[in-house]
Amino acid sequence: MTQAPPALPIWDEFPHVLHTHQFSAEALEVLVQHTQAFEKAFAKRQPLPRKSRKRPWLVKLMFFEASTRTEDTSWLAAHRLHMRVRTIPHPQTFSSAAKGESLTDAIAALTRVGGLGEMRAADCLVIRHKDEGSASLAAKVVDTANGDGEIKLPLPVINAGDGTGQHPTQSFVDLYTIHQERRNGNHPLENITVLFSGDLKRGRTVNSLLYLLGKFGERHTIRVLFSTHSELGPKQDILQYLARHRIHYEFVPEFPNAIPQADVIYMTRIQRERSDGANYTTLDRGRYVFRKEYLSHLKTGAFVMHPLPINRDPEDPPAEIDDELTPLALKKDPRCAWFRQSHRGVPVRAALFDIIFAHIDAMIKKQTA
Ligand code: NCD
Repeated sequence: MTQAPPALPIWDEFPHVLHTHQFSAEALEVLVQHTQAFEKAFAKRQPLPRKSRKRPWLVKLMFFEASTRTEDTSWLAAHRLHMRVRTIPHPQTFSSAAKGESLTDAIAALTRVGGLGEMRAADCLVIRHKDEGSASLAAKVVDTANGDGEIKLPLPVINAGDGTGQHPTQSFVDLYTIHQERRNGNHPLENITVLFSGDLKRGRTVNSLLYLLGKFGERHTIRVLFSTHSELGPKQDILQYLARHRIHYEFVPEFPNAIPQADVIYMTRIQRERSDGANYTTLDRGRYVFRKEYLSHLKTGAFVMHPLPINRDPEDPPAEIDDELTPLALKKDPRCAWFRQSHRGVPVRAALFDIIFAHIDAMIKKQTA
């Protein structure tokens, strides 16, 4: 007998995806399963396991900050679902933001919510912006405008990175990667030790992933290690959150001592553009580089992740992952997971769009019944 598919999850502040605290462990597990089905269908060129109806939804991508992977995989995911996508080109430079326009006014213009009863100019917004809280602000703008409109369809806002805040969809990619890469014969998060290094103070992918791991603290034994410069340690409120959610954490100042203890090593770059004038030139950055020789210190089955980009600026060495490891990562070495991790952005974001729009389909059905 085939098992009934799990019900589609819904989460706090639905349909927005603003931070990982919104999601329960159950919702995240269903997202992982749905992503697995999408990945399989993409790989085998089979019909997609979609739950939403094929409609020409218009997804707007507004990246006020640079992006390679998040923007491209959001585009690809929407495209694979036969949605239409409009990318606002370089809004920081070429939109009216350059003339001093507020984000609120830009969101009102680009969605035309609260408008004249014409078609909306977006059915979903994917937004990246340098200010923490910017995606939540965008969600508030569309919700306020929608509140007394005739059409009661929500307009999802997806946070693709808000300054030093969060980057929830990257954490879904990270969680999915751990699911696909960890072979411990048990649940992938059971008895796991995750080592974080790099900029744990300002890195939004780290913030989001730590909050997400906290959701599983009651179900699994999860240990977190932090190994980085004392100036770049994690935020206090996150540490308090981890403690409340039964995640055991430790600081290991010497990076080589932390490596053999970890199942997953999560490297990140120093967020120089967010350093507020702090001078990092005095840091001994070579202390927290994942070097080729460390491969032989890894636990069996352990692997290195990185949300990317790795900082390979020749003016600003060293890179936090040794260049010598790039060919191994390209050749799919199981210990070097970062390219596979980034490629998973497509099935993860497709599964997420699909879940959101399946719920919106159900709302349309109810409203037109
Ligand atoms: C990260 C980001 O933008 O937060 N990249 C990503 O989206 N995969 C990481 C970074 O910029 O360091």
